[in-house]
Amino acid sequence: MSRENFGNRFGVLVAMAGSAVGLGNLWRFPYLVGTNGGAAFIVLYLIFVFLLCIPVMYSEFLIGRRSESNAIGAFRKLAPGSKWGIVGLLGVLCSISILAFYSVVGGWTIDYIVKAVMFKFTTTDTKVLETIFQDSVTSTYEPLLYLSIFLGLTGLVVLAGVKNGIEKYTKIMMPLLFVLVIIIAIRSITLPNAWEGLVFLFKPDFSKVTSTTIFDALGQAFFSLSLGCGCIVTYGSYVKKDENIVKTSAMTSIADTAFAIIAGLAIMPAVFAFGISPGEGPGLVFVTLPMVFAQIPFGEFLAILFFFILFIAAITSSISLLEVVVAYLNEEFKWKRVTSVLVSLALLMVLGTLCSLSQGDLADVKLLGLTFFDFFDGLSANILMPLGGLLIVVFVGWRLGRANFMDEITSSGKVKMSHWFVEFTYFSIRFIAPIVISIIMIRGLIK
Ligand code: PHE
Repeated sequence: MSRENFGNRFGVLVAMAGSAVGLGNLWRFPYLVGTNGGAAFIVLYLIFVFLLCIPVMYSEFLIGRRSESNAIGAFRKLAPGSKWGIVGLLGVLCSISILAFYSVVGGWTIDYIVKAVMFKFTTTDTKVLETIFQDSVTSTYEPLLYLSIFLGLTGLVVLAGVKNGIEKYTKIMMPLLFVLVIIIAIRSITLPNAWEGLVFLFKPDFSKVTSTTIFDALGQAFFSLSLGCGCIVTYGSYVKKDENIVKTSAMTSIADTAFAIIAGLAIMPAVFAFGISPGEGPGLVFVTLPMVFAQIPFGEFLAILFFFILFIAAITSSISLLEVVVAYLNEEFKWKRVTSVLVSLALLMVLGTLCSLSQGDLADVKLLGLTFFDFFDGLSANILMPLGGLLIVVFVGWRLGRANFMDEITSSGKVKMSHWFVEFTYFSIRFIAPIVISIIMIRGLIK
């Protein structure tokens, strides 16, 4: 079967950044920073991104491009007759588990576009905005409607295929999102009392760090970079042979991290300026940003634009997740793309419904003491993604073989790289990443 490729270098980068930048940066990161006490969490997050996640990203990218296969097929092809395919299967399950709750939040963004269009956000009254958020997410039918719209649109783009769907839309929206978040950050920093938020963001207090903080920071780093769930393997499989894997991975990681920090700057100073609790949880962005918009000239219109772009950022990520599942069904079961999309969407609609209702009607139904929403969130970010990342570096470091690694990372010698850089990367993949990830996971799980 002939497989599609991304059109050009910029297209690959945009698709990777589109996957990485999403609700993870603008919704999940700020609220985890808030619940985990601020700067110390950010420092840990940054260390994990550069020390552990970037080697994992090289490894995933490398597996995808070398095998030119979906997440499971990739391992089967590179290690025939072995059990390594399970790592890919884990990735597919992880993608499903992320989509289950991610699509619900994706639905909230659509809900907020609608609310912004109706000019619901002209108040700076925290209570009112908190009530708006609570009422929207806990009600029964509305979130389900928005969830199905979000999933349906994700399915449509995935159906349109790699080049026409994924690449085309992301190219325009990502740069626009960046500009918008910077505008919001500038306004947020110039609010009265904003400095308290800056202190919270940048003055670490390590005495408050617990193993939960470390565990959450690791999970968030994996989540934000779309690692350990087969996404980068799948996207890597659509990348041409002369592409520089290292550069693309590094640029994706830097762009994603910059986005997270700017999102922090857009939100935390405002949180303190308006006297909101930083530990507010998943509603943090949805309560805080409308207040910032109320303080900006033409803020009503910026709010519409912002929630629209937040929705785009979310959908470029959910596309990459759905693509993992669809590529697998399509290539391994030989199902048509349409069939694969429809079957995946049906399953996701069921899981998404459980997550959505767990905000209200099903709030008392718990799995291992967690609501459906928190269960799927915790399962994917804190367990499946780091575990997937761990197995992937072990695979590349210990199974794929040195010669294959060297050949692929340098694009068969076409891309020149410093000898020391390649050696150090190989060392991180073999030793540093697997050991550190294992220690954090074991400590976190014992907790
Ligand atoms: N990285 C995406 C975000 O930050 C979420 C995601 C996770 C996307 C895993 C793909 C794979 O929103």
